[in-house]
Amino acid sequence: MKKVMIVFGTRPEAIKMCPLVLELQSRKCFEVVVCVTGQHKEMLDSVLEIFHVVPKFNLNIMKEQQDLSDITCGILQGMKDILKAEMPDMVLVHGDTSTTFSVALECFYLGIPVGHVEAGLRTDNIKNPFPEEWNRRAVGLLSSLHFAPTKQAKQNLLKEGKRDEDIYVTGNTAIDALKTTLSENYKHPMLKWAEDSRLILITAHRRENLGQPMRNMFRAIKRTVEKYPDIKAIYPIHMNPKVRAIANDELAECDRIQIIEPLNVIDFHNFMKASYFILTDSGGIQEEAPALGKPVLVMRDTTERPEGVNAGTLKLVGTKEETIYNEFCTLLDDYEAYTMMANAQNPYGDGTACIQIADVLMEWLGA
Ligand code: UD1
Ligand code: UDP
Repeated sequence: MKKVMIVFGTRPEAIKMCPLVLELQSRKCFEVVVCVTGQHKEMLDSVLEIFHVVPKFNLNIMKEQQDLSDITCGILQGMKDILKAEMPDMVLVHGDTSTTFSVALECFYLGIPVGHVEAGLRTDNIKNPFPEEWNRRAVGLLSSLHFAPTKQAKQNLLKEGKRDEDIYVTGNTAIDALKTTLSENYKHPMLKWAEDSRLILITAHRRENLGQPMRNMFRAIKRTVEKYPDIKAIYPIHMNPKVRAIANDELAECDRIQIIEPLNVIDFHNFMKASYFILTDSGGIQEEAPALGKPVLVMRDTTERPEGVNAGTLKLVGTKEETIYNEFCTLLDDYEAYTMMANAQNPYGDGTACIQIADVLMEWLGA
């Protein structure tokens, strides 16, 4: 038996790694150890519960006003003892969070091989998104295996000098997760509230957007919702108190915008499916929306998901109030443009990424 440790800490990592945990657990040749850093708490626990994944270890590092040093130091210290005690044959990490970076770094210090899931996403700006672009590049430097979601991500890795034989194009495990969460007969009281309207789903949380960019987004959204009486917006708000303070300032007193607590992933994916389109600065939502045929206005200055932009589902609209307002209005007015975005092809795979990753691991580890 080969021991594979899977480590994650935030909501999006959990959503995209739990299906892989389940796939590896279904194969008798692996001993699967799940460790969570607890970079997130409630938002992480909700995903673990839905996928019935029970971690063996939880570092529980989250603090209300945590900064990047708190997260990185807490995880390096906490992972050291766990990794030394468990000595797995491989550790799998996901994407670009500070959990991902810190865990991979500790593995590097201890000589434990790292497999990087969702490898090779890049913008050309190390500071944007911050600090995720640094995190994923750094993890790429020390990983033994790179599981790239698309051919373009593979090209990014090859350009950096990674060896062709260490890179596997698998699709994104987010598409695998949708198989568990979507349901045909889904109902929810909030969807009932919006049923006579075009439903706009909103999320926002990026660190580099905290402050003026986020104020700009919310002002543009409020102006647009006030202009169009046939739309209603639902905003499941991130638990970051800094995000909540800005939303509270900018979005209060608009009864067609409902700010609600974060939705569990089953609810959120089904809300996406029920929506007319989505405004977000999230990464994962840019991967899920094309599979659901939902246009997305990406309220960011860069994206590491150009595949979705090229496919036509995503439009990068920046963080300026006037631009977001104009793009939001255009997508509401121009049905032809809307239909083209809604009918684009999903570039993130067929939902078999976890099977493919497990197959590679069996061979690589000689399991
Ligand atoms: C983190 C990741 C980001 C990812 C995002 C997904 C880093 C540096 N950032 O950013 O890449 O896109 O997660 O959501 O790794 N909080 C709670 N409960 C929770 C989760 C968060 O109360 O379950 C609050 C805490 O006050 C915490 C704050 O949110 O201090 C910020 O969390 P943090 O993980 O530092 O940053 P995110 O913006 O969530
Ligand atoms: N999501 C969720 N509930 C919510 C909002 C988002 O389950 O209320 C899911 C969403 O479907 C996606 C992931 O969380 O899978 C995205 O997380 P987030 O935007 O926090 O992080 P990012 O992807 O930007 O790193």
